[in-house]
Amino acid sequence: MKPVIEIKDLDVFYGNVKALSGINLTIDEKEFLCIAGPNGGGKSTLLKVILGLVMPSYGTVKVFGKTPEEVRNTVGYVPQFSKFDKGFPISVADVVLMGCLSSRKELFHRYSRQEREKVENIMNELGIHDLKHRQIGQLSGGQLQRVLIARALAVDPKIMLLDEPTASVDADSKEQIYKILNRLNDKMTIIIVTHDIEAVSPYIKSIAYLNVELYYHGEARPDSNAINKFCGYPVGFVAHASPYHVLNRHQEG
Ligand SMILES: Nc1ncnc2c1ncn2[C@@H]1O[C@H](COP(=O)(O)OP(=O)(O)OP(=O)(O)O)[C@@H](O)[C@H]1O
Ligand SMILES: [Mg+2]
Repeated sequence: MKPVIEIKDLDVFYGNVKALSGINLTIDEKEFLCIAGPNGGGKSTLLKVILGLVMPSYGTVKVFGKTPEEVRNTVGYVPQFSKFDKGFPISVADVVLMGCLSSRKELFHRYSRQEREKVENIMNELGIHDLKHRQIGQLSGGQLQRVLIARALAVDPKIMLLDEPTASVDADSKEQIYKILNRLNDKMTIIIVTHDIEAVSPYIKSIAYLNVELYYHGEARPDSNAINKFCGYPVGFVAHASPYHVLNRHQEG
């Protein structure tokens, strides 16, 4: 397997706050990685470093052997908090088309026929084509998340980074989103931040536990107690193909 992301001895500080410390992480091509860990554990920060939106305080980050800034156009990103003015009159199709802009420099851009066709295909693939004329403010949470994934795909990414794309989404829509990602994983590397380890388990190939430091990165974890202690909350662990779930979630009850 070729590594697509190589992180070496990474520290990130925000002023005096140490968000990430001593991270060494190599992510292979076509990996489907779930990043888990407590609030404030540095998960979003790690994605932003891979995107080149946050600079390392120490250490190096290479994406396809280059700096994150150099390859920004090959990375799709669904941020944790997408702020939309719900009243703003913009359609689903327009939001997805906006994804095409990130790889372009012009201020005023007319979309080409190829771009429009590409966006049609993406909307079909994600099951949101029927919604294309809807205003973005009229969508349910799960529909909006799929639109945001579609927008990220319009970049033609080789890597997709998704920061809690299923927060506040119902169980059925979660399944749908994970299945979409599972399908996309045939073509690209996927990194997803989620607290929903149990639901994502059947789809992922590896997991990383992050709490300022990286405590684990790999396929399955035979001893969840150590991880629970590090993460500060009980987490499940995954085994290939047949996931087994959180063991001690309800132990206190
Ligand atoms: N722009 C910023 N300025 C200062 N501190 C920040 C900034 N962004 C994040 N932090 C701090 O860095 C640490 C890591 O934050 P980060 O958002 O990466 O955590 P997270 O694991 O994504 O948390 P959550 O699960 O709540 O989304 C936290 O202590 C946070 O308060
Ligand atoms: Mg976060």
